Amino acid sequence: MLNWGVIGPGGIANQFATALASSVQGKLYGVASRNLARAEAFAQQYRATVAYGDYESLIADPNIDVIYIATPHSHHFPIARACLQAGKHLLMEKPLTVNAQQTEVLVSLSAQHKCVFQEAMWSRFMPCFEQLKEWIEQQEIGELEYINSQIGFAFSHLKNHRLTDPALAGGALLDLGVYSVSLSQYLLAEYPTRVQAVAKLSADGVDQNTMVNLTYPSGVISQFTCTMAAECSNIMSIHGKEGYICVPAYFWNGRQAQLYQNEKLIRTVDFPHPVNGFEYQIESTMESILLGRRCDPRMNHADSINVMQTLDVIRQQITLNYPECIESLD
Ligand SMILES: NC(=O)c1ccc[n+]([C@@H]2O[C@H](COP(=O)([O-])OP(=O)(O)OC[C@H]3O[C@@H](n4cnc5c(N)ncnc54)[C@H](OP(=O)(O)O)[C@@H]3O)[C@@H](O)[C@H]2O)c1
Repeated sequence: MLNWGVIGPGGIANQFATALASSVQGKLYGVASRNLARAEAFAQQYRATVAYGDYESLIADPNIDVIYIATPHSHHFPIARACLQAGKHLLMEKPLTVNAQQTEVLVSLSAQHKCVFQEAMWSRFMPCFEQLKEWIEQQEIGELEYINSQIGFAFSHLKNHRLTDPALAGGALLDLGVYSVSLSQYLLAEYPTRVQAVAKLSADGVDQNTMVNLTYPSGVISQFTCTMAAECSNIMSIHGKEGYICVPAYFWNGRQAQLYQNEKLIRTVDFPHPVNGFEYQIESTMESILLGRRCDPRMNHADSINVMQTLDVIRQQITLNYPECIESLD
């Protein structure tokens, strides 16, 4: 039985804890919040053994084997570095860090300390995306031409939310666009060689709507829009000369795949999650610990670094700048 700790018991940590509760290999042992009462409430709700009012105490707890980091992305790097230096295995929310350099440092630390360092890009672990890869490899839609995806919600009215705050690495790209970047890369199994991006920045200085074309060595183009200001389809479609595949909303949840040939729907496959979709990455992380590997091949370190590099280039083109304190390696 592996003992898990959670750092940052906010919105998404609830999904994680719900999925972990169904695991036979791991259990929630500890929770850490900047506020002890919040940690205690979360610990009580999900039956954790210990609650801490600071992150350092959980990292130092020898009973904890593996830590899930669910703070805003601005805070991922320093917390992950402290965890790896303490010899803790990690599952960390997307986007892994604020820039590629930070991810590279963490990848080196994971090798140095022989710890699992796993990006929680949960979609990559889902059977739906395995099915998509299979259809593409089996030439069900013929030669690939392009991928199209939209991701986002009309929630720019939120005030004092991490998404609107540059100091918390806010904006649509890092929070949402990362799915389009990562899943295109996964499906195509190649890295983009050309990036073209435009965006509308909000008054707060984060990206509100971002439109990107990623061109791959094969000639395939992945075009995506991410937004925190408009309603959108939240569909991903993959287009070939003889058909297309559609992943309906919300595509990153991987609940259904539809195969079209000659403009007709010929197959629909549903993928109900045993719990909520988080269970796949949780099990994979524990498997990595038991196998002594640093990460799952489906979401490996080279891919994580390339995703961050692609996000860096997009940010440069759209002039999405964050405060130096969250970009640094200190
Ligand atoms: N996989 C998915 O489907 C999914 C969905 C949503 C979000 N995410 C990712 O999960 C991460 C957290 O997202 P969330 O929506 O759960 O965030 P959130 O609820 O806004 O914040 C999570 C926790 O981070 C901690 N935190 C630490 N420093 C903070 C600071 N300076 N300001 C605010 N909070 C701070 C807070 O916990 P304490 O104060 O209690 O320590 C807070 O409860 C993000 O990286 C996001 O990209 C993933």
